[in-house]
Amino acid sequence: MNYIEGSYPGGASACPETLRQYFDDGTIDGYERILSEGKEAVVHVVSKSGAVKRYYAAKVYKKREERAFKNRADYLVTQNLFKRRELLAVQKKSRFGKTVEEAIWQIRETVYLKELFAAGADVPAVVKAGQNSFVMEYLGEGEERALKLVEAKSEIRDPGGLFARVMRNVELFLRCNIVHGDLSPYNVLYHRGRVVVIDFPQASDPRRNPNAQALLLRDIRNICAFFARWNVPADPEALYTELWNKYRLNEI
Ligand SMILES: Nc1ncnc2c1ncn2[C@@H]1O[C@H](COP(=O)(O)OP(=O)(O)O)[C@@H](O)[C@H]1O
Ligand SMILES: [Mg+2]
Repeated sequence: MNYIEGSYPGGASACPETLRQYFDDGTIDGYERILSEGKEAVVHVVSKSGAVKRYYAAKVYKKREERAFKNRADYLVTQNLFKRRELLAVQKKSRFGKTVEEAIWQIRETVYLKELFAAGADVPAVVKAGQNSFVMEYLGEGEERALKLVEAKSEIRDPGGLFARVMRNVELFLRCNIVHGDLSPYNVLYHRGRVVVIDFPQASDPRRNPNAQALLLRDIRNICAFFARWNVPADPEALYTELWNKYRLNEI
């Protein structure tokens, strides 16, 4: 099936033009449906036929004007991918700078995800990074997407183990100089009894972003608050202090 002919199970009109690039390069050949529509992005289920049909999640960012989140780009992770001239233009806020800034914003989530996946963190594998969007591993079983932690409350069997796993991820992120910045039971999926952390566009580097410490504490508080219902023993301030000190002393 190709994009132009398009007779998609989800309805051709639902398949955004942005996904054409992945049909054209052969990453996918089917459109399934919308998975989620958020403030910054729309996530779609797409597929690739074969002996076994494979499903993927495609995240498409909204246009800058439509997004709630318009933070300036975080240069450190992306500085090797852009020329100095381009980064200077961003600082000067010229029109060209705005274009570059948008380009940085659009690739930063995949830059983080790839780095974290390589480091062994529980994040989705990036299948293909493209224009204004990317295709990633789909967490779910066929039609049924993986639940967010917040939706999976009644199914959670090993809260202590899951909590430890999320915290292990927070530590691993920090080892890679990354603070998620929007970590909550809404951005952790529960898949086959394990956790997968998603949604990284607002992540930041503590070496550059002076707010990263406060964000780290907030992330840890959100996770502790969620697991408190199972009486998992956790003191967010103590966990934060221990983690931050380890990071500061390069012992992480
Ligand atoms: N790889 C994935 N597999 C399954 N579901 C996903 C995947 N990525 C995102 N989702 C679903 O889409 C929702 C929105 O994705 P997210 O990256 O959190 O974007 P945002 O919160 O900015 O809209 C998630 O809460 C989750 O339910
Ligand atoms: Mg989210």
